[in-house]
Amino acid sequence: MSEQEIRKGLAGVVVDYTAISKVNPESNSLLYRGYPVQELAAQKSFEEVALLLWKGELPSEAELTEFEATERANRAPDSRVKAAIDLLPLTCHPMDVCRTATSVIGANHPLAEDSSPEANLRKAQELFAAMPAVVAYDQRRRTGLPAVPPREDLGYSANFLWMTFGEEAAPEVVEAFNVSMILYAEHSFNASTFTARVVTSTLSDLHSAVTAAIGALKGPLHGGANEAVMHTFEEIQSTGVDPAAWLQDALAQKKKIMGFGHRVYKNGDSRVPTMRGALEKMVEHYQRPDLLELYTGLEEAMGTAKNIKPNLDYPAGPTYHLMGFATPTFTPLFVAARITGWSAHVMEQAASNSLIRPLSAYNGVAERHL
Ligand code: SDX
Repeated sequence: MSEQEIRKGLAGVVVDYTAISKVNPESNSLLYRGYPVQELAAQKSFEEVALLLWKGELPSEAELTEFEATERANRAPDSRVKAAIDLLPLTCHPMDVCRTATSVIGANHPLAEDSSPEANLRKAQELFAAMPAVVAYDQRRRTGLPAVPPREDLGYSANFLWMTFGEEAAPEVVEAFNVSMILYAEHSFNASTFTARVVTSTLSDLHSAVTAAIGALKGPLHGGANEAVMHTFEEIQSTGVDPAAWLQDALAQKKKIMGFGHRVYKNGDSRVPTMRGALEKMVEHYQRPDLLELYTGLEEAMGTAKNIKPNLDYPAGPTYHLMGFATPTFTPLFVAARITGWSAHVMEQAASNSLIRPLSAYNGVAERHL
């Protein structure tokens, strides 16, 4: 096979159809089942967007009411999941806790080996409901705080913040969190979603696919970037250097600047303006103009130095920081949101499956004999 046919990282390779979302770098747009994500973020709840991704249509009032009841009834952490989390050291990464919890939920699920559309939808909705308690409890246990039970009178986002901080969040904070969940929900064949599709293509189960996807999302080139952005901000603020000077030094060391660049979007990530709007509202709410100054300073410096624009992780990181989430919790928040996209792709792959098994070109030693 000639050298030029190798497409390392599958860059630019179209491997299958999807009807779930459309990422268009030319128009710098993102549609979830045909709707611009900006409209959904401004007008819909994360629960409504979850149903849209799973079923292809926005829910009726009755369908939403039914799903909200199911979601709220499945929020409380299963005692077996909590026991498994308690066995994990506080030194492990919170993404390991999400990965382990998903496996424990799957191992205990009565429909674990049933991959019918109905079973997969039920497992997806239960995982959607269960993940916030996992993420919230894990952050709290790391500072010696007890779990906060879920509240059935609060929507998904408000309850997530309640379980994490033990107090009701202000409406504008709930709104900003809801926006972040919708923006993080789905993004076609990104590395973690494609991982979930590969696992599904062997006819393995939904929890195995999501566990594998969490493993992929953990990496700093993918979901781990939102945590890494905050580490960058903390490093710049603690040293007091000018963002441009920090950047010059980092680029001289050939470092990848977290929160910038994208494999598909080459003229900016369509989700950034909406997430930046949420960040600006949080900067106002928490009175932290310094953070926005740092944000824009590094963005401008990166534009000047490399003409590379921010991706969603860049505004998401500082937003979660202002809300009070611990930095290592940022990527688990991405997990909670992306449960929807991953599970929608699991169901789509299963519905028209073909085993995913690419080729490789051999460049090892020539055949030889003992
Ligand atoms: C997410 O795919 C998705 O849709 C993912 C996601 C989703 O919703 O699922 O959008 C979420 O993962 C967003 C991306 C988060 N990752 C980061 O912020 C990590 C930093 N970004 C880079 O590592 C990079 O931009 C990637 C990995 C995201 C994309 O890189 P590509 O497409 O493989 O491009 P590349 O690494 O080949 O870069 C091309 C050039 C290189 O320069 P040369 O080596 O050719 O001289 O641009 C440079 C790169 O060095 N470059 C960067 C850079 N991004 C690209 N240089 C410094 N810092 C960066 N961030």
